[in-house]
Amino acid sequence: MAVLTTGVAAQYSTSEKLAARARLHTHYSVSDEGWFEWVAARLQLGEGDKVLDIGCGPGWFWQSAAPLLPERLELTLADQSAGMVKEALERCGSLKQWTVTSIEADASTLPFADASFDAVVAMHMLYHVRDQAKAIAEMGRVLKPGGLLAVTTNGANNLRDLYALTTVFGSEPVEPVAATFGLDIAERRLGAQFGNVTREIQPARLRITSPEDVFMALTSYPPGDGAPDEQQAAFRAAIDQAFARGGGVLDVGKEVGLFVSRKA
Ligand SMILES: C[S@@+](CC[C@H](N)C(=O)[O-])C[C@H]1O[C@@H](n2cnc3c(N)ncnc32)[C@H](O)[C@@H]1O
Repeated sequence: MAVLTTGVAAQYSTSEKLAARARLHTHYSVSDEGWFEWVAARLQLGEGDKVLDIGCGPGWFWQSAAPLLPERLELTLADQSAGMVKEALERCGSLKQWTVTSIEADASTLPFADASFDAVVAMHMLYHVRDQAKAIAEMGRVLKPGGLLAVTTNGANNLRDLYALTTVFGSEPVEPVAATFGLDIAERRLGAQFGNVTREIQPARLRITSPEDVFMALTSYPPGDGAPDEQQAAFRAAIDQAFARGGGVLDVGKEVGLFVSRKA
């Protein structure tokens, strides 16, 4: 069972559970740039562009990326979670000179006219979507000719040594989202829709120094979040052993990718 792809409504009613996982990346990443800054540097947005972020979550990307982006943007923040849409608008509504609107929307049936956007961004969300080909086709439909689609996701090797610890919950020892929308699937599906796609992996790893942060991140989604006490205790023991083996540090590789396609 690909656990991060089930129970999506409960998982994302607010940003709390997502924040437990994001904390590993914001606090412990070893890389030249933060993830959001690395993506922003590759988006090539122009002054005044109309941009859709589908599956925007709490809008963290735009807050972090703003210093690297144009002074003027017409940004539409869309997510199927009402809580995320509200939080994203509160966070991003007064960034730079941007015009920011928000809307509850499902990626599979985007409530926008054909050819309305210069760019569509779909970061770490397509693995939640049942009909990915339909959602990608919708992203293509709402893009103007020449418009840019940026999609991000994780590869099967992402945080491998962390996911190895989750076998105490009966989980597979691999990145859970890769089975539904890993790097190869993403490249294939985007190429099929657009006829072109570039793939770039951010060189980065995590150097984690807090066992508690690992526990909180990996029990923020099923089955870890509902695991019985004895499983949670076994999980804590497995985490402690891993930190002991690393001399108090857990050093794990990341495999996170950005795909960019252009509409003909
Ligand atoms: C892992 S979060 C990513 C948030 C943000 N894009 C980021 O990278 O920080 C996934 C988001 O996708 C949203 N989502 C999941 N399925 C969706 C769908 N079918 N249509 C629109 N949003 C969806 C969730 O509500 C959640 O906010």
